Amino acid sequence: MTHARRQRIQVVAHRGASEDAPEHTLAAYKKAIEDGADALECDVRLTADGHLVCVHDRRVNRTSNGRGAVSALELSDLAALDFGSWKNRDAWRGRDEEPDWEHRPEDPADTSVLTLERLLELVADAGRPVELAIETKHPTRWAGQVEERLLLLLKRFGLDAPRTPEESPVRIMSFSARSLHRVRVASPTLPTVSLMQFVTPRLRDGRLPEGVGIAGPSIRLVRNHPVYVERLKRAGHQVHVWTVNEPEDVDLCVDLGIDAIITNRPREVLRRLGR
Ligand code: G3P
Ligand code: CA
Repeated sequence: MTHARRQRIQVVAHRGASEDAPEHTLAAYKKAIEDGADALECDVRLTADGHLVCVHDRRVNRTSNGRGAVSALELSDLAALDFGSWKNRDAWRGRDEEPDWEHRPEDPADTSVLTLERLLELVADAGRPVELAIETKHPTRWAGQVEERLLLLLKRFGLDAPRTPEESPVRIMSFSARSLHRVRVASPTLPTVSLMQFVTPRLRDGRLPEGVGIAGPSIRLVRNHPVYVERLKRAGHQVHVWTVNEPEDVDLCVDLGIDAIITNRPREVLRRLGR
């Protein structure tokens, strides 16, 4: 399955506008929408009681005031934690000036744990089209449950079975070919993105796992091996690159005809693109 090239580069907010606000919080996603991002990226994990939450790390230690693995905690445990204050500490570190973001949420829900369901509601209420790039984390541990829950949730929002991949406002990304395969079997028209950070024999040939339409290389891979981007594009695949934060990397993506830029700084990237 391949995808036609996009008309213009899509700007995707990585974990929300995560340079300005704490990653994977409503605050970060609201900011990304305000900034004009075309799409939002999020990582999803399953809690011990089967809820999909937007958390990058296996444990909550880095991004909250709690400790422990997401998979060992229930949603109510996570809901008691603060996912915002760490950013304040981080933003102040080594700086004399006031950081852009301070932990002063008007609504504590803006910095509490974010469920994928709440993020889907936010997107539905955005008032303009906003796409969603959902990454499955550690899908092997759950033997298909992550994808199963994900598709059930998308179904509730009418997003699980688009008529064609091109029309879908949601796509599923993963480093795991197995996870993408599960998604494709259950929902063949939902677009999938194969994330990659190393050169593999398959990439050398400009190929992706069977049925996957979109390549998701790291910016480092693209910088070091632009030739593979050309090969992928020649084979009809879209290329979505992460995590592109520097102006010169944005320019490289433009030169290479990249389809989507995944960035912590959507506002700056949009400006660089003249939008
Ligand atoms: O968008 C893909 C990118 O997010 C993959 O890396 O570690 O930020 O999830 P990571
Ligand atoms: Ca991710």
